Amino acid sequence: MAKIKVGIVCGGKSSEHEISCISAAGVLSAIDTSKYEAKLIGITKSGKWVLPPENYQLTIEGEKLPEISEELPETNIAELGVDLLFPVLHGPYGEDGTFQGQCEMAGIKYVGSGVLASAVGMDKSFAKPIFQAHGLEVAPGMVINESDWQIDQDRILAKATEFGKPLFVKPARSGSSRGTSKVKNVKELKVAINFALQFDTKVLVESAIIGREIECAVLQLNGVAVASPVGEIKIVGDHEFYDFEAKYLDDSTQVIVPAKLEFGVQEEIANFATMAFDALGCEGLARVDFFYTGSKIIINEINTMPGFTSTSVFAKLWEVGGISYKDLITNLIESAIARPLNVMR
Ligand SMILES: Nc1ncnc2c1ncn2[C@@H]1O[C@H](COP(=O)(O)OP(=O)(O)O)[C@@H](O)[C@H]1O
Ligand SMILES: [Mg+2]
Repeated sequence: MAKIKVGIVCGGKSSEHEISCISAAGVLSAIDTSKYEAKLIGITKSGKWVLPPENYQLTIEGEKLPEISEELPETNIAELGVDLLFPVLHGPYGEDGTFQGQCEMAGIKYVGSGVLASAVGMDKSFAKPIFQAHGLEVAPGMVINESDWQIDQDRILAKATEFGKPLFVKPARSGSSRGTSKVKNVKELKVAINFALQFDTKVLVESAIIGREIECAVLQLNGVAVASPVGEIKIVGDHEFYDFEAKYLDDSTQVIVPAKLEFGVQEEIANFATMAFDALGCEGLARVDFFYTGSKIIINEINTMPGFTSTSVFAKLWEVGGISYKDLITNLIESAIARPLNVMR
């Protein structure tokens, strides 16, 4: 039987370009080559689709993060010659439905959530009210649009401080903690809002939740969302919160799987994770992130294309859940093949 041709797509226009390359390197090294023929497809920071050579550097080399070069030979979605695409893309233009829309238009199947779930999952200002409507608790907060901020900063600052202190300020559609700050007073709040607005035109201000960060990986198996054991993120060293450096650069993060929680809490979080997955109509995979305060379970966010290397939280959670990294990839490809494109019957 001819092997299924899978295009592993990485890079992209978002600030998570480099992380995407690292995830793709993982997929390329673990994909079951007895079943699939993998082809690397790059998207440059300017958005060009390119074909990197087979030995292209996708991992961190010393201090240098990988990047898809603008100089590589160009291609386009219509001439890839693959059976399906595996977008290992994080953030806007990859995880937010735009890439997925392009696949739908071109009639090419793809791994992961569709247009709507991707778009809503990316935008915390939309995901939060949907989670709430399904009975999940979210951090109290407000959304600030850049246009309103330009007009009425004082009123917005006054309203934001009603959510107590400290506060978290973050772009509605970012990732990897980019643009996120923890603030303790109005002066810092103003700086943080302006900073977050450099990443997005819409910003969230939230009460800081004092609690442990617990994550759960969801994988769709035969059309059903299944939750992994839950893990706790432990940050050692000098970090105010789970910021970019803690996530990727300085080995200061550990994930403890299964998280040590009181009886029943792990099951409840796992249950909330699949509820969140279904609430948004996700497909394939997602990582759902929570805070656990000791009494309350608060959903923070969902990632429809979480970091996906063999050592990422997603893979570690499933390793303990009994599914190897290689089998995760196979499952994702098989469920993408089984799923019809678009909503028309
Ligand atoms: N309301 C909040 N309370 C406490 N910590 C928060 C809050 N919002 C964000 N954080 C911290 O900031 C990190 C990044 O925020 P998050 O909303 O997960 O954005 P991203 O999509 O960039 O991962 C979280 O993992 C957590 O450490
Ligand atoms: Mg997060």
